[in-house]
Amino acid sequence: MSERDTTERSSELVDRARNVVPGGAQTGLRAQAYDTGDVAFESASGATLTTVDGETFVDYHLGFGPIVLGHAHEDVDAAAHGAIDDGVLYGAGTAPLEVEVAERLVDLLPSVEMVNFCNSGSEATYHAIRLARAFTGNEKILKFEGCYHGWHDYVDVSVYPPEERLGEQYPESDGMLSAAVENTLVAPFNDADAVRKVLREHGDDLAAVILEPVPHSVGCLLPDQEFLETLREETRERDVPLVFDEVITGFRHSPHGAQGEFGVEPDLTCVAKALGNGYPVAAVGGREDLLAQAGGDNESGVVISGTYSGNLPGLAAARETLDTIVEEDVQGYLTDLGDRYRDGLRDLMADHGVEGRVVGHRSIFSPQFGVTGEPKSYADVLGLDEERFRAFAAGMRERGHFFTPNPYKRHHLSFAHDDEHLSSYLDDADDVLADL
Ligand SMILES: Cc1ncc(COP(=O)(O)O)c(C=O)c1O
Repeated sequence: MSERDTTERSSELVDRARNVVPGGAQTGLRAQAYDTGDVAFESASGATLTTVDGETFVDYHLGFGPIVLGHAHEDVDAAAHGAIDDGVLYGAGTAPLEVEVAERLVDLLPSVEMVNFCNSGSEATYHAIRLARAFTGNEKILKFEGCYHGWHDYVDVSVYPPEERLGEQYPESDGMLSAAVENTLVAPFNDADAVRKVLREHGDDLAAVILEPVPHSVGCLLPDQEFLETLREETRERDVPLVFDEVITGFRHSPHGAQGEFGVEPDLTCVAKALGNGYPVAAVGGREDLLAQAGGDNESGVVISGTYSGNLPGLAAARETLDTIVEEDVQGYLTDLGDRYRDGLRDLMADHGVEGRVVGHRSIFSPQFGVTGEPKSYADVLGLDEERFRAFAAGMRERGHFFTPNPYKRHHLSFAHDDEHLSSYLDDADDVLADL
């Protein structure tokens, strides 16, 4: 069979999609998969994805990270089906699942006292910022270059600024409200002095400081303990809520989030992705006095709303996912496996004299070409060799391994990945790196 034959149905479908869906995929980031050839998937199971042409790939994309236990996980799906059988939405009062999952989040996440559910990470960060603005009466927020917190105007600023726009408030999209961008201050990640300076200058006007405690939107920047502690001290001193966006780190890296791992407790926490192993479920949680503003009585005026918030199949999936993560020490397994992928890939890059590095943490890793040294901030990610990464992604895809060809993104592992996947990945990476 020629290579063309193996993608024929995918190409037909992508062509049809381009007529009715902008860019031929639901998001611009998803359309980047076409950079290494048209692709349309129709099923997924465990660690694999299968295309409409019947080609099967080992999946390192995992839907941008939510799939932490593996695709079509039997127990998670059975839990969701159970909720479907009981009716998917009541939309008044409460339901046992809402209480049970909220209680689990309060138990697991050290700083969380109350929880409000929603359906996506972007909603969670939006709600967190509204709660913080209401609490402080201030409008400005501080975020960090290279951190992604969703698509809304408050936060889609300076995620991937070009080098010449570093230090500016760089809007990531056309059509954004200039007032929102102006109120979103930016600083370099891991720079405790910059944080002190912003807090000194704007502390009285700040509503929140928000960060990915481990920024994975640019591969992986590991936080300096001093940086996290400075953030905590400086914000506490001025009563500015500190928001951890744990949309990736929560439940993928630890059942207790990055806050449990690094021992620094924020005031508000956003979780999504791995919380539901792929089902749409997310939450904002945090200090009782902050969350209670959304209580709906006359004195507490923050609106948090959403027809589908606390959707029951999502919550049933979340309960099962959280229980599995805790009972089966999923993170212990994934950390060990992740270390072996990272070490193996590093050795291969060294053997083949390929300039680059492998960054990552626990179940996440990213080969980055043309840059060396441990990245500390977004500026250290600039200059990576995008063409070489795309060539690597294309070569690996030809050999049956799928990940997005976007060089700033990351590989993810799930509980369904095992030693066989590891050996075949490293064997094939050996060939592909030899050709780079
Ligand atoms: C750290 C982080 N925060 C927020 C979001 C937004 O989540 P969602 O895509 O569910 O709106 C993402 C999505 O990739 C993310 O990685």
